[in-house]
Amino acid sequence: MANSIKNVVVVGASGSLGKEVAQELVKAGFNVTAFAREDTTATFPSNLTVKKVNYDSVESLTAALKGQDAVVSTIATVAVGNQGPLVDAAVAAGVKRFIPSEFGINTRIVGDDVIGQILVGKIKTLDYIIEKSKANPSFTWTGVSSGLFFDWGLKYGSVGFFKDSKTAIIYDSGNEPVQASNLAFIGKAISAILAQPEKTANQYISIASFNPTQNQILKIVEAETGEKWKVEHATTAEENKIGLEKLGKGDYSSFVNFLKRRVFSDGAKLAVEGDKNAIGVLGLQEEDLTASVKAWLSS
Ligand SMILES: NC(=O)c1ccc[n+]([C@@H]2O[C@H](COP(=O)([O-])OP(=O)(O)OC[C@H]3O[C@@H](n4cnc5c(N)ncnc54)[C@H](OP(=O)(O)O)[C@@H]3O)[C@@H](O)[C@H]2O)c1
Repeated sequence: MANSIKNVVVVGASGSLGKEVAQELVKAGFNVTAFAREDTTATFPSNLTVKKVNYDSVESLTAALKGQDAVVSTIATVAVGNQGPLVDAAVAAGVKRFIPSEFGINTRIVGDDVIGQILVGKIKTLDYIIEKSKANPSFTWTGVSSGLFFDWGLKYGSVGFFKDSKTAIIYDSGNEPVQASNLAFIGKAISAILAQPEKTANQYISIASFNPTQNQILKIVEAETGEKWKVEHATTAEENKIGLEKLGKGDYSSFVNFLKRRVFSDGAKLAVEGDKNAIGVLGLQEEDLTASVKAWLSS
């Protein structure tokens, strides 16, 4: 098939998400090349071809992308605004599909939410990709919103649960369903996107392993540990206030506060349930929430 995708570059394949995505792509039978910075200190598994690149040089990126069918960028948040040369090079090298480093909230629907000021690098990059795709129809794109990284977020606290102290921070009522995806699941979704290029071309999709509420997670951790956890209640209004204070001082760590407000607020309605969850189209099924929480508790 003329449009089939076989050779895939993962940009930032040494990262939290990139590592998992690269391995899921290998498992799905793609030939995977990892792009890394020239001065990276990362090490890579032997099943990946590694190319060290200069992300500022369209010329050298174009040469490195020759023969590649798709680029999956999982580049670090700090670098999302610098994907322009990579996009230009992908077009020049004849890459058929570009998946930019999105993988969080759906940046197409932020409207005038202040969080958009922080996500501007992602938003502008995708605008640019869409513009390039319109001018070069063989260059296609897919945007992926995954919601919160779930397994990563349990480990690093962004879901609000801390197993060492058996503490949960519950925002507002704790009853808002939250779009969340495990890292390997995002890799499986990307594999499914690339395996079905026509079906997934030029669209922004939202996926979720599941859409748990914080109170559902609390119930699971208490049942699994056999203990009541200490619950600290917080409000997303306060998170927003802290975020605005930080942003006023140019502190972009305010993203975390705005993110909590955006996803955990009562009535946020950002869960991707039923037809809103593109996993059906991709041929994937929701994951088991209890099993995911148990895996974290026993890790
Ligand atoms: N939904 C969520 O909960 C959530 C959480 C975290 C991140 N994210 C999003 O997911 C995507 C990937 O994030 P991540 O946390 O997996 O990334 P990461 O681990 O921070 O970084 C990925 C890779 O990017 C490369 N890199 C780091 N700094 C760079 C720079 N200044 N310039 C160019 N490359 C650089 C590094 O690879 P080399 O050293 O090999 O070059 C690094 O391993 C981002 O879009 C991020 O915003 C979402």
